[in-house]
Amino acid sequence: MSRVVDQFEQACHFLAGGVSSSTRVNKALGHALLFDRAKGCRLWDLDGKEYIDLCCSHGGTLLGHGDARIRQAIDQAFDRGAPCSYESEQHTAFARILCETVPCLERLRFTCSGSEATMHCLRLARAFTGRQKILKFEGNFHGYHDQVMFAIGTPADQLGPESAPTVFPGSTGIAAGLAENLVLVPYNRPDLFEQVFRQRASELAAVICEPIYYNAGCIVPTPEFIALLRRLTREHNVLLIFDEVLCAFRMAPGGAQEFLKVTPDLCTLGKAVGGGQPISAFGGRRDVMDRLMPTGDCQHSGTYNGHPVAVAAGLAAVTAYKQPGFYDHIFAVAERLTGGLSTIFEKHGVRARVQGLGARFGVYFGVSGPVRNYRDAVQHHRAQMLRFVKSAIAHGVYFHDYGGAACHHGFCAAMTLSDVDEALQRLDDAVRKMA
Ligand SMILES: Cc1ncc(COP(=O)(O)O)c(C=O)c1O
Repeated sequence: MSRVVDQFEQACHFLAGGVSSSTRVNKALGHALLFDRAKGCRLWDLDGKEYIDLCCSHGGTLLGHGDARIRQAIDQAFDRGAPCSYESEQHTAFARILCETVPCLERLRFTCSGSEATMHCLRLARAFTGRQKILKFEGNFHGYHDQVMFAIGTPADQLGPESAPTVFPGSTGIAAGLAENLVLVPYNRPDLFEQVFRQRASELAAVICEPIYYNAGCIVPTPEFIALLRRLTREHNVLLIFDEVLCAFRMAPGGAQEFLKVTPDLCTLGKAVGGGQPISAFGGRRDVMDRLMPTGDCQHSGTYNGHPVAVAAGLAAVTAYKQPGFYDHIFAVAERLTGGLSTIFEKHGVRARVQGLGARFGVYFGVSGPVRNYRDAVQHHRAQMLRFVKSAIAHGVYFHDYGGAACHHGFCAAMTLSDVDEALQRLDDAVRKMA
């Protein structure tokens, strides 16, 4: 028996479901793939099999595994004793570089995870506006807390009408009544957004969105849609929140807001912001952020907020993202990889669409037209996705899979163009076998 399977079975005796995070089971395999080590864009599993990584820590790794700059920053933090739950000069240095880089940030706070960042951001929006409801887009994912665990993976036959999508719970166990706090609208539908927003604006504390909707693969908002969000929220004093936990730093140092040239009132940053260490942030307008205690009356605290090891890693990572040529490389790899993958599908007669921006992309099977929102993405063929991921893994390319749904994949900056060519060769074989 393989060591991976044996160790997963061992894990099941102690960890619920054999994992530390429910989504870590790769559904295409039926178990988690246990890794022994990683370097750059490559992973090695417990059996010594090597993979080119196109998951990249679900987006947590943008520089690559084991990056020397991150390692040095972490070592230096430990050399100083890494005292946590205290402030240091490094916290200010990291906050400063973020404020100088991400357009909406005048003030920010650090949290440990993306879920905490959105949770605190929404509490702050309610405190600032004195209003209760949040407008969220169907399918957009904002973390695992009860306020937003709705309409994230609604089955195709339960979506409800476009004008009033079902507020479908993403889990059991969510406190009763929370669905009533949400107003739902399909993404990329300015007509429906305007209609619903005008009726409900006086009840809304915030509109929250994924400004690049990577959680359904990769969906870029139309200029009309994103401009309308900004214009109407500003006109009605509703806060606009960009959840950039996943999209920050993927295509520009200032994230989606720099790329789209639209500045929200508040944003969240996660994953890549920590260079692979657990840290996230939320921030934005100074007058809003001043509502946090101790200057204001809204609570945000946590023992491990701004952990010095993660702060040091994040500062090193963001400094690296700002180096000249960093995004030229990201876009060159993206073009070769997503273009090459589309050509492979075409060559083997597999109807699949690849949509990408910067360092992340989505693959949609059985779909030919553009995928613009969750209702388009949910039409893709899940069984074919599972077959593709299984075959890719067998041929040495790691894609994660969440049950066949359209989801995001991505690469890291350590990937060279020759790594891309090697990945494409492996994927050519993988798609030939699956076709
Ligand atoms: C857009 C978005 N927001 C929030 C989260 C939650 O972040 P975390 O998993 O760090 O709690 C995620 C995670 O994938 C995300 O993609």
